[in-house]
Amino acid sequence: MTAPVVIHAPEEFRARCDLARREGRRVGFVPTMGALHDGHLTLAREARARVGADGLVAVSVFVNPTQFGPNEDFAKYPRELDADVARCEGAGVDVVFAPSASEMYPAGDQTRVRVDGVAAPFCGPFRPGHFEGVATVVARLFSLAGPCAAVFGRKDYQQWRLLDRMVRDLFIPVEVVGARTVREADGLAMSSRNRYLSPADRLRARVVPEALSLAVFAYASGERSVDALRAMVLEHLSARVDSIDYADLRAPGDLDALPATLDLDARAVLAVAVRIGATRLIDNVVLGEERAPISA
Ligand code: PAJ
Repeated sequence: MTAPVVIHAPEEFRARCDLARREGRRVGFVPTMGALHDGHLTLAREARARVGADGLVAVSVFVNPTQFGPNEDFAKYPRELDADVARCEGAGVDVVFAPSASEMYPAGDQTRVRVDGVAAPFCGPFRPGHFEGVATVVARLFSLAGPCAAVFGRKDYQQWRLLDRMVRDLFIPVEVVGARTVREADGLAMSSRNRYLSPADRLRARVVPEALSLAVFAYASGERSVDALRAMVLEHLSARVDSIDYADLRAPGDLDALPATLDLDARAVLAVAVRIGATRLIDNVVLGEERAPISA
């Protein structure tokens, strides 16, 4: 495979994507913050599948300052562009777009994109301003790339749904694709933040996919009480994690609230956020749709 072209300047990235479209090629796009792992690379392969062998697959690598809170890990977020470019080569990526913060947010910039309802539950209250930062940077990236398909991970379920809502509300002509969560052998969802875990904490982290799996099994055995499902997850997590931000269930599309008792065939997103040591981990599963992260 040939090495991807690395582009830093937004206008050069736009020109490259424009040219591809003029040549009749489809553009597939995967926004990331780098420190790429197999989860990210799966998204790039999905983008390739969407645009075909002669399409253009672009991956952005940008640690977006506006989506980090003041006490979050912006400064220590891993930055390793050369290794990321090498990984992209193995995944058949054509272009890596790696802008600087001052290029994505030029002096005088005043525009932010805010999505309301979908941003409210789950991580919303725990990360004020986070989803506004995500929507703002992804809207800017879409505007530069003009992709026909953009691929996001269901690992960040709320982010995926929020961006899908954003493109529908703003009439942005891009298909927002949600790709399945890629997990480690023990069920832990891959994440650039897993590397922060000490070896002992890494072992404890397995409790997250375990708790989700318990709920999948209970749902499969007929449990439809939202409170009962939430309580079993909280109980399993609380024995092993340092704190729990939330364990909550919502309707899959726009994350609307659910009735106390689910219909027999209802699907529900069960999402959790916990802290283990100094690391915050999130994960989710769609009850009624997905298999358990850890099989019985
Ligand atoms: P980042 O955390 O780098 O994730 C980039 C993409 O990879 C997201 O769509 C995320 O859901 C997906 N991803 C991460 N871990 C995954 C896994 N284990 N399996 C499948 N997909 C996975 O999410 C962001 O960056 C940023 O918020 C961004 C959208 C780039 C905006 O700055």
